[in-house]
Amino acid sequence: MPNIKHHLKMSNQKKIDNQVLVIFGASGDLTARKLLPEIFHLFCKGYLPEKYAILGVGRSPFSDESYRQEAVLENPHFSSVKDIDNNLKKFAALVHYVSLDTGKEAAYAGLKEKLTNILPDTLDPNIIFYLSTPPKLYIMIANSLAAHGMNLEDGGWKRVIVEKPFGYDLATAQQLNKELLKKFKEDQIYRIDHYLGKETVQNLMVTRFSNSIFEPLWNRNYIHRIEITAAENVGVGNRGGYYEGAGAMRDMIQNHLLQLLSLVAMEPPSHMTPNAIRNEKDKLFQSLRPMSLEDISNNVIRGQYTSTKINDEVILGYREEQGVSATSRTETFAALKFYVDNWRWADVPFYIRTGKRLPTRVSEVVIHFKPNHLHLFKDMRMINAQNVLIFRIQPNEGILLKFGLKVPGTGNMVKTVNMDFQYDDLTEDYVPDPYERLILDCMQGDATLYARGDSVENSWQFIDPILRAWENDPEIPIYGYPAGTWGPEHMDTLIEGTNMVWRNPSKNLSHDGEYCEL
Ligand code: BG6
Repeated sequence: MPNIKHHLKMSNQKKIDNQVLVIFGASGDLTARKLLPEIFHLFCKGYLPEKYAILGVGRSPFSDESYRQEAVLENPHFSSVKDIDNNLKKFAALVHYVSLDTGKEAAYAGLKEKLTNILPDTLDPNIIFYLSTPPKLYIMIANSLAAHGMNLEDGGWKRVIVEKPFGYDLATAQQLNKELLKKFKEDQIYRIDHYLGKETVQNLMVTRFSNSIFEPLWNRNYIHRIEITAAENVGVGNRGGYYEGAGAMRDMIQNHLLQLLSLVAMEPPSHMTPNAIRNEKDKLFQSLRPMSLEDISNNVIRGQYTSTKINDEVILGYREEQGVSATSRTETFAALKFYVDNWRWADVPFYIRTGKRLPTRVSEVVIHFKPNHLHLFKDMRMINAQNVLIFRIQPNEGILLKFGLKVPGTGNMVKTVNMDFQYDDLTEDYVPDPYERLILDCMQGDATLYARGDSVENSWQFIDPILRAWENDPEIPIYGYPAGTWGPEHMDTLIEGTNMVWRNPSKNLSHDGEYCEL
């Protein structure tokens, strides 16, 4: 059976141009935890081109050597990588550093000069600029690169990867798009959302569009409701300062979970090309039914975790976390019910829920099918089977289908059973990290798994009224929930109907309803 590693190689048949990756925010957490270790994976798999270099940019006064030492050779996040001893020194030699104040346009002359020294026989190299700095610097960096001609593609191509958050609300996202587009063309801009790089998220499209049994059922005639959950058991940790200005709606829903929704609910694209797929995703965002103030107060719930004791350990409440105001009204939990106004989904409720300090870390998409029209077994006191299809995004990645089966013995006792597939069974290799896949795609000029400017604005368009209502109306409650529970009790009111509840998944895909301890 082909494994995932094999597929990754298969998808990587395109020739990869020689290139340089310039990382702004070179001494930041993302660079140490994800960017450099994931590029090292690509290096070990032989995916880097013959001439390749990484140039870290930051304020800290490193030399090439001291940066290599700190960011690569002594970086604890490389430790899980195979063949580390053989390859690490060779990889470190590809890494360079330039110290500059990114807030000063004139300083970019130093960056340009350094670039010409890195690949000396390449006059105008292909370059990816990775913006992993605080977002307030994005426009400044783009303008300064352009002021020094580093956006021009007369020789080599130039691409910019922009980290999330892309904007703070609709107006700032529009402004950011507008400013970036003055200096770079849309096809040079790669707005990264790491959820799109997850294997299990990409598999949503493959499951929907490569099987003949699912797509005919994928509509309002057969689907009763769709639930998307992204639960985390951790709190905000040392990111309180950032999180205070974000909250669950900006941090998870506007980007990751709406992107996930778009893959679950979009129409089939005409081709598997970046723009054909992104056109369908954008149409989906345009079909989200705008929320009125009444919808917001009835169908959106926010919460904040409160202190509790679990196994004798005191878990701090959000307001006690470092960097968080004691009177904070930032939500660490959000749940919403909404509709997609198009022919496929008219009147089908969609539910999204996310939160920190929930019982376990789990993300999944749950498709609840409608029950049979005729309950043939009901007179025999038998419950009708509930057909549910679950896409487990993480952990214990896989798919689970629930259907009714006769219990052996007399009568016709129906029991809902689980049929599951787990990714672990498909490959002996690890499932690649999203950053590995996304960086490789950008290196090849494939923007399919990156968000397009119009979609980002359209997803903000949907979220913006909720954020404004929360800011402006102190009457809208923010419910407390004890850390380690599934969020405010009040969220159950969103799902109305007999015997209908949120699915509370456990870490193990097929163990329904069992909670994991924090
Ligand atoms: C990030 C958020 O984008 O995604 C974090 O800023 C969140 O708050 C993280 O913890 C979740 O990502 P994952 O891949 O662990 O589900």
